[in-house]
Amino acid sequence: MSNDQDQWTTVDRYFTDLLAPDDEALTAALDASRAAGLPEIAVAPNQGKLLNLLVRTHGAKRVLEIGTLGGYSTIWMARALPADGRLITLEYSPVHADVARSNIARAGLDKIVDVLTGPALDLLPVLEEEAAGPFDFVFIDADKVNNPHYVSWALKLSRPGTVIVVDNVVRGGKIATAHPDDPAVTGTREMFDLIAREPRLDATAVQTVGSKGYDGLLLARVTD
Ligand code: SAH
Ligand code: DHB
Ligand code: MG
Repeated sequence: MSNDQDQWTTVDRYFTDLLAPDDEALTAALDASRAAGLPEIAVAPNQGKLLNLLVRTHGAKRVLEIGTLGGYSTIWMARALPADGRLITLEYSPVHADVARSNIARAGLDKIVDVLTGPALDLLPVLEEEAAGPFDFVFIDADKVNNPHYVSWALKLSRPGTVIVVDNVVRGGKIATAHPDDPAVTGTREMFDLIAREPRLDATAVQTVGSKGYDGLLLARVTD
């Protein structure tokens, strides 16, 4: 690992220890996810705390997450919700979904979180049919090739003022250049084009460094 990466990790640890320490349920969620062989690609603790603060600051009651993994980001966001709040999270892998359900129950959040299993593009139309929206806050963090579809669905299930956050929009800087052979980059670039020409979305993106490397977040708001 590069010296830069070592320094980013050291600074992330400094912030996390002071401001966003993992408690028992979060640590157990990461331990159980690792033990079950899930990839170690959850958001960092200080990023989880950022999601928690965004959901709370926005006063969101209904949250949609696309890409659950072991439910680590789910727990951070669900903790920001009031008792009558609801978080629906979509996960393709039944194994990941099972680990997540158990992690979420251990965190005492199973009453307000629903983990739905299946390809998100099959589940999103069901949410629409069931009038599960509008959602106040949407976190997109699944297969990057489908990012343009996920943003379109987030918009469909939104209201004016809905906030949409997309993880991993920089990927070590790859985003700024066309990578025809990398569907994740191609998908995310299509997403940026879509957002740029969509008058109902007002957006920005920021680059980040930290324990998870050099990446970035997109933040968008549905206009009034
Ligand atoms: N949000 C999580 C990390 C998610 S990793 C966290 O920060 O804690 C991405 C997840 O998206 C993986 O669990 C993967 O199985 C899931 N995924 C991939 N393709 C998907 C699809 N088409 N529909 C739903 N989930 C998908
Ligand atoms: C990957 C996915 C993520 O959501 C992430 O935060 C980091 C890496 C991946 O698929 O490699
Ligand atoms: Mg991610």
